[in-house]
Amino acid sequence: MRVPAKINLCLGVGGLRGDGYHSLATVYQAVDVFDEVRAEVLTDSDAIEISVHFDSTAESIIVPTGPENLAAKAAVALREAMGLTEGVHLAIRKVIPVAGGMAGGSADAAAALMACNAVWGCGLSRDELAEIAAELGSDVPFLLHGGNAIGSGRGERVTPVLARGAYYWAAAVSERGLSTPEVYAEFDRLNPDRDPVPPAIPDDLLAALRSGDAVALGDALTNDLAEAALTLRPELEDVLAVGRGAGALGALVSGSGPTCLFLASDEAHRLDLSVALASSGVCADVIQARGPAGGAQLL
Ligand code: C5P
Repeated sequence: MRVPAKINLCLGVGGLRGDGYHSLATVYQAVDVFDEVRAEVLTDSDAIEISVHFDSTAESIIVPTGPENLAAKAAVALREAMGLTEGVHLAIRKVIPVAGGMAGGSADAAAALMACNAVWGCGLSRDELAEIAAELGSDVPFLLHGGNAIGSGRGERVTPVLARGAYYWAAAVSERGLSTPEVYAEFDRLNPDRDPVPPAIPDDLLAALRSGDAVALGDALTNDLAEAALTLRPELEDVLAVGRGAGALGALVSGSGPTCLFLASDEAHRLDLSVALASSGVCADVIQARGPAGGAQLL
């Protein structure tokens, strides 16, 4: 199973809800940075086993292999929903930055749901899996579907967006990840009197996507969590400055950070941006991405 990373083209955050989540108004875009999850049924055990393999610089970052891994939680949730008892081994190949604001953990959960659905013969549709996905994490339903979509509720309610064109991104990855709950807590501290309703999706962003206009999209990118991420990691200002200085059409913190995203006008410009970021020494790695990508799919 192959599953994309996501970015948020806009991320409007409203008030803290009774369930501890914030109401969101966001536009997701899936990008072609993929994790892979392979599922193998365990015939003589009811264990849910996880192994994680890296082939990038992410190796220094710890990913749990126990029941706290979101992919393991996905397998347990599907098994309970279907009344099954079989075990499974999930082999995860990680390419999406860990704790980077690109939904790597949620992507693995989406892929685990689809992979277990296949090897256990559950026969659930993508929409049926999305209901289980919503319980696992706010981003998980979107990663089943991919493309461009509006996210509402706490991010788990997704509606496709009319969009044209392909968008080229350089993503500057940090050495250390950021904890999403900590970034939201910092957001609450910085915005004590926040309107409980998140800001509407900007019309100019939707118009830019509809017309496939990368310059207009670059101008319309927004992220309400950026201030909180930058307060926790002031050095990200330097990353953003390098990308802007190299002529990015738009620069923003990805989700809850610390990955920073730079929109390029085409593939050649993306390479220029990537070289500028990599040679500046302000980030640990640069990933080149293109969106939109499809959702989780069988390889
Ligand atoms: O939904 P997910 O498990 O990915 O969220 C991780 C954490 O991020 C939540 O526990 C919560 O602290 C924060 N969060 C939030 N509001 C959202 C989404 C996430 O406060 N809409």
